[in-house]
Amino acid sequence: MRLWCRATLWQWTTLLSVIAMAPGAWAQGPAPKPQASKPVAASKATPSPAAASKPVIDYSERYAANCAACHGNEGRSELPLVPSLAGQHSFYVITQLFLFRDGRRNDHPASAAMSALAKGMSDGDLRGYSEAVARLPAAALTATPAEPAPPPLDAARFERGRQLATAHRCGSCHGADLAGGGQVPRLGGQREDYLQIVLKGFQSGTRLGYTPAMNEALSGLKAEDLDDLAHYLAGTLRESR
Ligand code: HEC
Ligand code: HEC
Repeated sequence: MRLWCRATLWQWTTLLSVIAMAPGAWAQGPAPKPQASKPVAASKATPSPAAASKPVIDYSERYAANCAACHGNEGRSELPLVPSLAGQHSFYVITQLFLFRDGRRNDHPASAAMSALAKGMSDGDLRGYSEAVARLPAAALTATPAEPAPPPLDAARFERGRQLATAHRCGSCHGADLAGGGQVPRLGGQREDYLQIVLKGFQSGTRLGYTPAMNEALSGLKAEDLDDLAHYLAGTLRESR
């Protein structure tokens, strides 16, 4: 535990130096309140004359070229084990890209692929991509899925997952609607197969987040509980369709 705390402090110090250089909302301070993500309009601000001489990098275009093949054009992943990014928050995304770049997120069979991509990114790239991801509409998660259609929800497992989420107060950090905010990720509508890996990783300690919050939140849960939780989280938006 003591070792873990030291790693966390180190990560935060370095991460904050990346975020501190961010334009707009992030320059105000390191810990934006949940739900206080940057408004879309702000990102469309006209560049200053000084910036006009530099080529402006359009990270939404870069997302389309470098990320969409795996994560989906609008951020809804159709690929097994690849997370959807639609509606994810910029602060959460920059933190994860930072962890990948540092090789500190490696609990998934394809973590190495994400790390390899992130290794080539400058701090400006981390910021640009995370803002582009934050512009992907959460509504993409509820769009009619492409083939193959996802398997039907199991009502009993869904209900068990819902009760576990209530009992373990997942919504106290992730929001009652599971939409997350700030550095806490959106969960509702995420892919079930990805969530299964992530929850096991947090519980066994192979996924070390930037905070031990999740490792602690899942202690005491059984393997089948985690699968029911994943079923519930993945199914929440489908239920409301
Ligand atoms: C080859 C497929 C592939 C490409 C291309 C790819 N990713 Fe990923 N990405 C993944 C996989 C698989 C994961 C899950 C890895 C893990 O959990 O360790 C992931 C995870 C992520 C996450 C963490 C999501 C979460 O919910 O925690 C972010 C953010 C991300 N990718 C952003 C990007 C960006 C930005 C690009 C383009 C520069 C990109 N990815 C390109 C496959 C890809
Ligand atoms: C004390 C606050 C807190 C509580 C309670 C909490 N979480 Fe989290 N959760 C977080 C934070 C912060 C992260 C980001 C961790 C990181 O990557 O460093 C996270 C990440 C996650 C992720 C990863 C999402 C992704 O896209 O990779 C999942 C899944 C998750 N939480 C599920 C749950 C579930 C299920 C519960 C209830 C059993 C729960 N959380 C309770 C704070 C919390």
